[in-house]
Amino acid sequence: MTFVVNRKNVFILLGIFIVLNVQFSFSQICPIIPSPATYKEFNESLLIEKTVIVDSTGLSENLKNQLKEIAFSYHKMEIKFSSNESQLKFKKLVNVIENSYSINVSNDITISYSSDASCFYAFHSFMQLINSDSEGYSLKKCFVKDYPKFQWRGLHLDVSRHFFTVEEVKRYIDLMSMYKFNTFHWHLTDDQGWRIEIKQFPKLTEIGAWRDSTVENHYTTKPRTYKKERYGGFYTQEQIKEVVAYAASKYITIVPEIEMPGHSRAALAAYPEYSCTGKELCVEGLWGVFDDIFCSKDETISFLQKILDEVALLFPGEFIHIGGDEAPKKRWKECEKCQNVINTNNLKDEHELQSYFIQKMDKYLASKGKKLIGWDEILEGGLSQNAAVMSWRGFDGGIEAAKQEHYVVMSPGSHCYFDHYQGKKNEPLAIGGYTPLEKAYEFNPIPPDLDEKYHSYILGGQANLWTEYIADFKKLEYMTYPRAIALSQTLWSIEKPDYNTFKYILSNNHFKYLEAKKVNFSKTAFLPEVEWKRSKGGLKFRINASKESGQIELSYSRNEILINDYSKTGNNTNVTFAPNSWIQVKRPKKGITNHHYYIKTTENSSSSHFIINATHALGLPIKYITEPSPNYNGGDLTLVDGQFGSLPWKGNEWIGFNKNKIQIELDLGKKMSNFQVFVRFLSDENSWIYFPNDVKIVLDDAFELVNPKIELNDNQQIKTFSFQLSKKTQKVKLVIDSIMLIPSGLPGEGNIPWTFIDEIQILR
Ligand code: ACM
Ligand code: ZN
Repeated sequence: MTFVVNRKNVFILLGIFIVLNVQFSFSQICPIIPSPATYKEFNESLLIEKTVIVDSTGLSENLKNQLKEIAFSYHKMEIKFSSNESQLKFKKLVNVIENSYSINVSNDITISYSSDASCFYAFHSFMQLINSDSEGYSLKKCFVKDYPKFQWRGLHLDVSRHFFTVEEVKRYIDLMSMYKFNTFHWHLTDDQGWRIEIKQFPKLTEIGAWRDSTVENHYTTKPRTYKKERYGGFYTQEQIKEVVAYAASKYITIVPEIEMPGHSRAALAAYPEYSCTGKELCVEGLWGVFDDIFCSKDETISFLQKILDEVALLFPGEFIHIGGDEAPKKRWKECEKCQNVINTNNLKDEHELQSYFIQKMDKYLASKGKKLIGWDEILEGGLSQNAAVMSWRGFDGGIEAAKQEHYVVMSPGSHCYFDHYQGKKNEPLAIGGYTPLEKAYEFNPIPPDLDEKYHSYILGGQANLWTEYIADFKKLEYMTYPRAIALSQTLWSIEKPDYNTFKYILSNNHFKYLEAKKVNFSKTAFLPEVEWKRSKGGLKFRINASKESGQIELSYSRNEILINDYSKTGNNTNVTFAPNSWIQVKRPKKGITNHHYYIKTTENSSSSHFIINATHALGLPIKYITEPSPNYNGGDLTLVDGQFGSLPWKGNEWIGFNKNKIQIELDLGKKMSNFQVFVRFLSDENSWIYFPNDVKIVLDDAFELVNPKIELNDNQQIKTFSFQLSKKTQKVKLVIDSIMLIPSGLPGEGNIPWTFIDEIQILR
């Protein structure tokens, strides 16, 4: 901003201890996650030895190996198989609910199971009942009865954007198995790398598995820079078989994904003859959606079917994922061969052509005894006969498919994209979005308004781990856990406890298992939360600590920036805060005051920091004459909370509109004259977010025709419109016109652009 400033820094530092008094009064809380259908606990405990004697009658060799491995990984316990003096017995059940099991702990332990998988699940549950301390091992006498709610309990992993080794993929699968996931969706191909050996087409991995450069920082950062280093890797068919067998040993089925017709740049770099133009292409080093996709001509269909032949032989599961998402139709529109396919098959347009393409794959897979699943774009142009749909752009695609009596896996971005941020501050770089633990916990794959007769088409749900910003396994664990554990509750538990109880079980019982396995899980959801409210003279906040964060130490400093006034600087007084109290932040009479707050916790040694840039707009009432999109509406305090929407942008920090005309009104509380209004806008063309065309101001009811001063920040992603106003007014209305439609040649062409705003400041 360019106003004339006289900066006087005033620095005061206060150390304040907010003493916590968090009490938990949970009883009969089952420590098992995902929570079982039935849990009854008795008062007595049963002691067990470090070496448990197990009667393994009826157990497969695999189960016996798994039992040993599981016991060691949770508690460093040993297992000895013997039918004499055994403390743990197994009993096979027949004619019971699929994958159900029970655990009976009295003077000894009996696990009853209906399938090998359910025996495996039961043993994980059993381990989670055991307490270990210096006295030894014990568990409460209890009865557990359990079975899964959904049959598709999935986690996905993108190994194209970043490659993960066989050992890392196995560890990912092993961690999934602790929480009763049964489906691993392996995203093996994309624009940035082809990762599966195909014997008939060796160039797919010789060329397609390697890129020459990778974009650095966030892809929206300007100017873009690249790390110019060869990057890549792939799995041989032998390695794929090894991973498939490993997953099977943990009762997990792998669904391989071979992307088509879009996200195919790596394949086309190897075999450009299967694109529309035939031009040479590189394996992409940038993230995004690209125009060059597989051509729909017969030769490409045949090429892809030959690839699917090999894939079908490697993966014994029934589903093969063919992608189908984000396939721009630009090349198909310009391609003579594609237009020929449209004409000879009497197709209406390129969407029907995509549907034709998917149908070819669907029929082919069906002839091999496999089922096709694809992202929800496969609904466009008509859903192929046997296709199942993975709904990622919200729930609507899944609802539509279920109504057409097709199977559905729900994986909406809002709840299931674990590449999104999980916290508001101090998180490692992510693609964007905001999916905290609580949001993941709220997920329900059955939409409330879906007629019950279609519920059986919802196979379950899945979280997706796209790895543009996840370059190593430690970060992958951080992004996945504990959100995947929250998801396991939704997918397995017949009835899950409330979120606070879940958090209690997680931190009390499960963090230690994750620590024992050296999982780099996130504790973001256990950091103190800052709660905001408007107050009379501005706003107030308080810090809601949790048991896991321990005591909170809050320090504070401030500096002031004044405009046109050199006389009234400083004048600070020391402030002390009582425990858990609301902390007031006042609108300054003149200029801007920057309040810095530093939060430290004693238990998990986290620290965070935020600044409130207080101006006269702080906490003012806002009226949205135009409603923001519910997806990008962090509440009407967002625009006047003194905190700038940051970059890379997060959905909760910016208010987003998908309209051409936007009107927002501020009430100054009293008549004022001679002040400046500043409004900040975001641009991120890849997300269809564009700067507005025009911003005007209406004061009370008359347009104040002042031309805004427009400033672009250094990386050209933020534009600030500022207005110098002189008339007396109480209401300030912003009238914002976006560009009508996104011009051709730009991302999202032909659509209404998004307008993102944060923050509004008023300076006197
Ligand atoms: C997707 O996230 N493009 C399926
Ligand atoms: Zn073509």
